[in-house]
Amino acid sequence: MTDPTTAPRTPLIVDVDTGIDDSLALLYLMASPEAEIVAITCTAGNVPARQVATNNLAWLELCGYDDVEVALGAEVPIVQPLMTTEETHGPQGIGHAELPAPTRPVSDRHATEVWIDAVRRRPGEIVGLVTGPLTNLALAVKLCPELPSLLKRLVIMGGAFNHAGNTLPTTEWNIAVDPESAKIVFDAFSGLPAERHPVICALDVTERIEMKPEHIAALAREAGSTPEEIISPEDPEGTRSTASHAIVRHLSDAVRFYMEFHRAYDQGFLAHMHDPFAAAVALDPSLATTRGATVDLELAGTLTRGQTVADWRGMWGRPHNAAIVVDTDPEEFFRRVIERVGRLARTVG
Ligand code: RIB
Ligand code: CA
Repeated sequence: MTDPTTAPRTPLIVDVDTGIDDSLALLYLMASPEAEIVAITCTAGNVPARQVATNNLAWLELCGYDDVEVALGAEVPIVQPLMTTEETHGPQGIGHAELPAPTRPVSDRHATEVWIDAVRRRPGEIVGLVTGPLTNLALAVKLCPELPSLLKRLVIMGGAFNHAGNTLPTTEWNIAVDPESAKIVFDAFSGLPAERHPVICALDVTERIEMKPEHIAALAREAGSTPEEIISPEDPEGTRSTASHAIVRHLSDAVRFYMEFHRAYDQGFLAHMHDPFAAAVALDPSLATTRGATVDLELAGTLTRGQTVADWRGMWGRPHNAAIVVDTDPEEFFRRVIERVGRLARTVG
């Protein structure tokens, strides 16, 4: 594993629908010396896009990242009506956390302009990371068809292949919100050389990455936060953290909501780390074992609309267009999260 303090920096455009796990993805990137967050773009998904922007600005300001552009993007999917999920992520999208309101405004540039300008200015350098619906990226590739070939790499959190969906029986949330945009993106990235195929972090692997209360406790210890940060399943729902360190306090309040939600749906008192895993892979692809496939979207299925379908064996006679993550080491992922975000929390205080 490379030393993050000496590894070459990775410039990223990060497109999110912040959300609880998107929040941890942003914290992970802010805590990673090798990450250069070029800009953050916001799409509607977990919560409306303007709330996503507020959440992003608030997390950035809390961590001292006041100079990163946050641009608003699509407020609705390109075809179907917007659906949001405050039930999963809380009324503001950050669980029980109540972040200080940001003082900085959202950018006056649209998300698509941010994407297109960045890849044209730095061809072959930018890593795109999308942890929400693919609406902004789809709109950007429609405006700039050469965008896929100008990105160094694209990492997507989305889809479910040999794994049950979390939105409908066969669909994953980010794709289900805007399946047409997902199809535009997968089609647009077809035909690229294998090393440029989008890396897909689907539920197949992200639902194996289960944050437990002990991970938050370890992160708080790494930060030097007091008292010990214990999220107990026996606590009344909505219990608030009293951690001395702000990032520990707010992250704990956010993740607790997610653990309560997963428990309510019989998945255990835990939180699936979908987006921070994708962020970790965007910085270090060696964290993921991938397998090539041809991915396409079911758009017409009465029961399966929004399903991501992987042809692993060439049955369609079409070239591969994706590198699907099929394995990882969850404990190595958590080691990095605890070390990095714990260090950031210690620094911020
Ligand atoms: O299905 C999980 C994904 O949907 C995550 O990105 C979560 O934040 C939601 O957007
Ligand atoms: Ca997300």
